[in-house]
Amino acid sequence: MGRFRGRSSTVLKPKTTQEVSEILKWCNERRIGVVPQGGNTGLVGGSVPVNDEVVLSLSNLNKVRSFDPVSGILVADAGCILQSLTDYVAPHNHIMPIDLGAKGSCHIGGNVATNAGGLRLLRYGSLHGSVLGLEVVLADGRILDQLTTLRKDNTGYDLKQLFIGAEGTLGVITAVSILTPPAPQASSNVILALPSFDNVLPLYQTVKRQLSEILSAFEFIDRTAYNLAVNHGQGRALSDEDVEGAECFVLVETSGGRREHDEEKLADLLESLLSADKPLVNTGVLSQSPSQFSSIWALREGVTEAVSKEGKAYKYDISIPLSSFKRVVDDTREHLRSKGLLHDKAVKYVLGYGHVGDGNLHLNIVADAYLPEIESALEPYVYEVVAAQRGSISAEHGIGAMKTHALPYSKSAVSIDLMKKIKNTFDPNGIMNPGKVLE
Ligand code: FAD
Ligand code: MLT
Ligand code: ZN
Repeated sequence: MGRFRGRSSTVLKPKTTQEVSEILKWCNERRIGVVPQGGNTGLVGGSVPVNDEVVLSLSNLNKVRSFDPVSGILVADAGCILQSLTDYVAPHNHIMPIDLGAKGSCHIGGNVATNAGGLRLLRYGSLHGSVLGLEVVLADGRILDQLTTLRKDNTGYDLKQLFIGAEGTLGVITAVSILTPPAPQASSNVILALPSFDNVLPLYQTVKRQLSEILSAFEFIDRTAYNLAVNHGQGRALSDEDVEGAECFVLVETSGGRREHDEEKLADLLESLLSADKPLVNTGVLSQSPSQFSSIWALREGVTEAVSKEGKAYKYDISIPLSSFKRVVDDTREHLRSKGLLHDKAVKYVLGYGHVGDGNLHLNIVADAYLPEIESALEPYVYEVVAAQRGSISAEHGIGAMKTHALPYSKSAVSIDLMKKIKNTFDPNGIMNPGKVLE
């Protein structure tokens, strides 16, 4: 994000778990801070040192340890790139249970450390469910071997869950055991243009009812997000006729067992949507080929890159009731306008996109530069809006260095007290990713 810059002089790139253990033991004895770094694609500054910490890159720990094609259980080093694991299991007709726009760079260890959500959560659930085991090096160098491949194991506290989403503050994940689902025999997608955001929720209900078990994604981008994606060459633009009068777009993906059956269901859905008395959608474009399928996904996945090419982004990754998505984006825009900040020299765009199926809105504010007056207009404004709805100030990106001050908007004092005690138990010298998650 380019918002944080430390003064580190050292990057270590261990090749084995044992080397990670020796590094942590050495640093712990000398009270030297360590920042675990995966693919460095995180969006909250978690992988960036804030002072002079040692950067511990996992990129050389990048081997698949085992894969069982019967159970679909994959055991891989933490530094394996997500896309390379997808490629690894593909010939066995399996897929990774997680997918996200950063798949070409992010590591599975980074995904687990951030408890990344992504585009498949609606279908396959969160990593808290699909991660079966972890190998973790603790701050004092001890190796916590919980690399089980068991589906069931109720032998007391499930310690691995603490490291999922801990953002490197409790230990370094060196290997992951993960359940990979069978690859769907067929996947299709359609992009729907909606005249009003008000139609998104009834549309979601209709789509769930009609597609039932084959629905695998329901993602939304507003018109501003769509325009930015297209302007920055992400995916192929729809025709002028298709986008005319569209306030937002919804991407629906199906994944199922029989192509003819799934395509028929999707085509029936589109037909019934378009022929309704009061249609919820203006139009829909069904992918007709693998390249169209990718191009439709690129319009959605490419928003992040388009936003960062356009300017400096303030990114709010929030969980709020679906019914508030549009109001929060519009209110934030009006709030910035009322402060005189919505113009060429300050905020250029306020946009919303995200994972409707997960209740997760990405509210992005794009400016020419990071300016204190924009930040003070946005915070605590956005956090107060989220807290008033008992939402989450970080649905899937984590807290990192960027949101430590905002944690109390989503966590009670009792929760934060317990989090600090857990941190102190695992890392009494405070060497693990200092300044992240907890202030
Ligand atoms: P890094 O950025 O290197 O690190 C992230 C955090 O994890 C840091 O705190 C770091 O210290 C810690 N960490 C990394 N590796 C380890 C390890 N082995 N052990 C302990 N701690 C570790 N996120 C979503 O949830 N959903 C999305 O859809 C999504 N899409 C994205 C799309 C794009 C284009 C981009 C750039 C980012 C996106 N993200 C998304 C953000 C997401 O958090 C990261 O992409 C990913 O999960 C981080 O993995 P990484 O390997 O890059 O970790
Ligand atoms: C996404 O859903 O595209 C990611 O979480 C990244 C982002 O928020 O930009
Ligand atoms: Zn997201």
